[in-house]
Amino acid sequence: MTDAPTQRPQRVAILPGDGIGVDVTAEAVKVLAAATERWRLPIEWLELPWNADRYLETGESVPEGGMEDLRDNYAAILIGAYGDPRVPDMKHAADILLGTRFELDLFINFRPIKLYDERLCPLKGKTIEDIDFVVFRENTEGAYVGVGGNFKRDTGDEVAVQEEIHTRKGVERIIRAAFGYARVNGRKRVCMSDKSNVMRFGHDLWQRCFEEVAGDYPEIEANHLFVDALTMQMVRKPEMFDVIVTNNMFGDIVTDLGAALQGGLGVAASANLHPGRTSMFEPVHGSAPKYAGKDVANPVAAVLSVAMLLEHLGHAEAASAVEEAVSVSIRKDVTTADLGGTAGTTQVGDYLASLVAAAQPVG
Ligand code: NAD
Ligand code: IPM
Ligand code: MN
Repeated sequence: MTDAPTQRPQRVAILPGDGIGVDVTAEAVKVLAAATERWRLPIEWLELPWNADRYLETGESVPEGGMEDLRDNYAAILIGAYGDPRVPDMKHAADILLGTRFELDLFINFRPIKLYDERLCPLKGKTIEDIDFVVFRENTEGAYVGVGGNFKRDTGDEVAVQEEIHTRKGVERIIRAAFGYARVNGRKRVCMSDKSNVMRFGHDLWQRCFEEVAGDYPEIEANHLFVDALTMQMVRKPEMFDVIVTNNMFGDIVTDLGAALQGGLGVAASANLHPGRTSMFEPVHGSAPKYAGKDVANPVAAVLSVAMLLEHLGHAEAASAVEEAVSVSIRKDVTTADLGGTAGTTQVGDYLASLVAAAQPVG
């Protein structure tokens, strides 16, 4: 008797979150379902209702033991977006979104900037070859550590202190990840960006680590730009970039600029990684509350996040098919209004899922 090989299920936690996070995640899951069925993948998923509604109702953002559950019992996490006007201090978003990044130690925030169609680029004369680079954003320290405080709060003499933390271990590992990626993926250049001309302690550590790590990758060209010059060059000459590595806050800012180069936040996807551990995938955009529930949000960023998730789980063919479906939908103008189309969120999701379901084997 021959048994079919038993594959261990790969469990994926789905956290739609708030606002349009819910809308786009529903479409991303349709595409995940289509890919799972088309390639008979051993993927199972479970939706976790960690969001603003639940937080406002119960006062709890992450259930007791929730992060450990993600870490120990799931292969990957898909997040929609967090942010709700009823929670102005973003407490639940900090606990859930930053909590996932920090508590699972997902130190690499990998954000590709890739133009799928020339027509989506706001720059004159740039081609899909010109806009094709990746940003390695440090994801566990920098300005995001929440170290600081207020003195004489709400008085005329108020003082607010907000510290940036940079550790040698933290800086070195993200720089090493960027160079390692360049080496494995045939990228020629790594550009580190900081503001070390002003931040003489924290960002000077980045300078020293960069020089040291670059020495281990002699075949990769290492260069540096202060972040103000980086933003200028991203617009002026995006073709000069292969891999950019930078701190948490600068990485946040430059990847929204990068998103604009590829057609807007509606198409920008990201992966939050720690090799060998449970990783998290999410669109770069937020919860855009004014568009929530209106069938207008672009689901492509969430769908491309699913492609990255599939690739991460070892399903390269399914991942390429999802990416190809996105390319086709853009070429054929089956897009939401942000990309110039007339389709709704669900129509785009259905179309992408149908393309994936019908994908032919490669080769
Ligand atoms: P946002 O990304 O939610 O939206 C900014 C604008 O970008 C929108 O008004 C819209 O014009 C466009 N946009 C974004 N996503 C789109 C999509 N899928 N389709 C079409 N258009 C899209 O940023 P914001 O308005 O600054 O923030 C709203 C809330 O989201 C805030 O609470 C913020 O803190 C939060 N936020 C969360 C995340 C996240 O969960 N990762 C990221 C950014 C912002
Ligand atoms: C992002 C977002 C988050 C960040 C916010 C919502 C905390 O802007 O993922 O880019 O700053 O990292
Ligand atoms: Mn951001």
